[in-house]
Amino acid sequence: MGIKILGIETSCDETAIGVVEDGRRLRANVIASQVELHARYGGVVPEVASRQHVLEIIPVLEQALADGGIGLEELDAVAVTYGPGLAGALITGLNTAKALALALGVPLIGVNHLEAHIYASWLTQHRPDESPGFPLACLVASGGHTDLILMEGHGQYKLLGRTRDDAAGEAFDKVARILGLGFPGGPEVQRAAQGALGLERLPRAWLGDSLDFSFSGVKTALLHLAHQRGIYPLAGAGSTVTEAEARRLVMELAAAFQESVVEVMVRKLLTMAEARNARGLVLGGGVAANTLLRQEVARCSPLPVIIPPPVLCTDNGAMVAACGAFQYQRGQQHGLDLDVDPSLSLGDD
Ligand code: KG4
Ligand code: ZN
Repeated sequence: MGIKILGIETSCDETAIGVVEDGRRLRANVIASQVELHARYGGVVPEVASRQHVLEIIPVLEQALADGGIGLEELDAVAVTYGPGLAGALITGLNTAKALALALGVPLIGVNHLEAHIYASWLTQHRPDESPGFPLACLVASGGHTDLILMEGHGQYKLLGRTRDDAAGEAFDKVARILGLGFPGGPEVQRAAQGALGLERLPRAWLGDSLDFSFSGVKTALLHLAHQRGIYPLAGAGSTVTEAEARRLVMELAAAFQESVVEVMVRKLLTMAEARNARGLVLGGGVAANTLLRQEVARCSPLPVIIPPPVLCTDNGAMVAACGAFQYQRGQQHGLDLDVDPSLSLGDD
């Protein structure tokens, strides 16, 4: 019988719980998304997110146990995201994990959300630490982060690049708002860009030799273009742009934006991999669900590329359980006085 770890994730707007056996066998992965609740505000409202986690967490737990056919008494440990993220949102997950760990008499394992995004790759077909092996060049791109992290071993990280302004996902979300597309912006921009050519070339911020990112310039350039072309503020009555023309422009700008952001991320990830003699590339975080990014990394990389399926790129509990499993193996656990850490980083010490 394998080691069974429960993973709880409530750092943002997904109430998610997964169960993973032996660090890589997915037994359950239940995700209650709050997307519709936040869509009307065009972004995540922290207070609304926190209260929704309180409502959802126990039903999600029950569903995860039912899906996996697992009783609470079979769990070997409870892993939970304790940062980074929204403080009020994290607290619900952490307190639920503490209650479970206390009641079941099993270890509580606090997990870094960014590290969990990397460990989603252990839920794919291969174990990245066996094939291709360490070091791994990792890109974690989400709503709050665009981090280039060198993973030298389990629990060993070096942060080599980060965004200086907007995170990649945040830029997708803001651009979607400018173009009158829905929330969250990533999937909407991807859909709008489908089949369109980014005829209008948008800038790329290379920042010299730095492995850092900057996405606010491309977002501002897109805003100016949208304004110039008469589709921002949104084309309405009295607009000189026809509806069909406006639709075409939105598609082209979405494609141009996606191309710019993807090209910079791919190039910098490959540069880091080469400079640090990485043996493989790992992608994680919500933006890694992006089809163009996945294709381009695979097309351009001379090294093996590991990218979890899209449902394991966006926030989920299984990745927390997978990450927790490796901490469990190393005997790493936390006391029941563990606090949330909204600005927790990875490899930045
Ligand atoms: O990792 P994640 O689910 O939550 C955070 O930790 O932030 O990432 C969410 C972000 C959002 O900004 C969303 O727009 C973006 O990931 N995203 C995408 C795609 N799917 C989600 N960005 C680009 N293309 C996608 N297909
Ligand atoms: Zn995330």
